[in-house]
Amino acid sequence: MSTRTAVVTGASSGIGEATARELAKQGYHVYVGARRLDRLRALADEIGGTALELDVTSDESVRAFADAVENANILVNNAGGAKGLATVADADLDDWRWMWETNVLGTLRITKALLPKLIASGDGLIVTITSVAAFHAYDNGSGYTSAKHAQAVLHRTLRGELLGRPVRLTEIAPGAVETEFSLVRFDGDADRASAVYQGIDPLVAQDIAEIVAFVANRPPHVNLDQIIVKPRDQADPGRFARRS
Ligand SMILES: NC(=O)c1ccc[n+]([C@@H]2O[C@H](COP(=O)([O-])OP(=O)(O)OC[C@H]3O[C@@H](n4cnc5c(N)ncnc54)[C@H](OP(=O)(O)O)[C@@H]3O)[C@@H](O)[C@H]2O)c1
Repeated sequence: MSTRTAVVTGASSGIGEATARELAKQGYHVYVGARRLDRLRALADEIGGTALELDVTSDESVRAFADAVENANILVNNAGGAKGLATVADADLDDWRWMWETNVLGTLRITKALLPKLIASGDGLIVTITSVAAFHAYDNGSGYTSAKHAQAVLHRTLRGELLGRPVRLTEIAPGAVETEFSLVRFDGDADRASAVYQGIDPLVAQDIAEIVAFVANRPPHVNLDQIIVKPRDQADPGRFARRS
């Protein structure tokens, strides 16, 4: 039997990096994509995968990436993130553009490009990492919550449109995971980023990676549609039990 292959976007850090490692451990050949190629190369060397530069906001980059992927059983739509925390009244249009381009149109571009290969595999799986922000609106978060809602609707729509095709679709919606996410959101402000996780036991990237691997290892007739996963210390996006 030929080696099964997986594609992980946003694999240069956090959830994507851990997921690539976990899928490689399960025997998949993993194509890892992101903009920071140096990090991807080190990861690909470690796991015996293939590093490919990818900017999900660029049609050209996605086309070149998809052409270089020979076949795909699994696509993990993970590239994404947030920029800023601002009220609607103070919304920064450039931050909104970044969030919509990366989370929504990025997921659309890469999914469209790889769909023929996923279908042709005869046993495909699309995992999209949305967020609890795809289920809730919260103050100062509308750029991110609206983008994650839209990304989720894209994914959920595909679940119906692909009925009868050999592709499973799973949405994983995490709460707080300690990665570079908050560092990106707060433009490199490490103090502000670490305050997000202060006094709680957040999820770590490996927690999500193991869930992706569990999903991937279900038999082809089993579709886990949605998985919402939060730290025990978190009830909703803005509701935490903090010890300090
Ligand atoms: N951490 C959380 O609390 C949390 C909770 C719920 C959902 N999520 C979602 O989980 C996903 C992964 O986030 P994370 O927590 O692992 O954060 P992270 O450590 O910041 O990782 C984000 C990844 O996305 C990649 N990326 C960003 N823009 C990209 C672009 N234009 N093209 C290709 N790759 C791009 C980054 O790589 P490069 O910069 O090298 O391109 C990086 O590998 C995101 O979709 C995020 O919204 C995170």
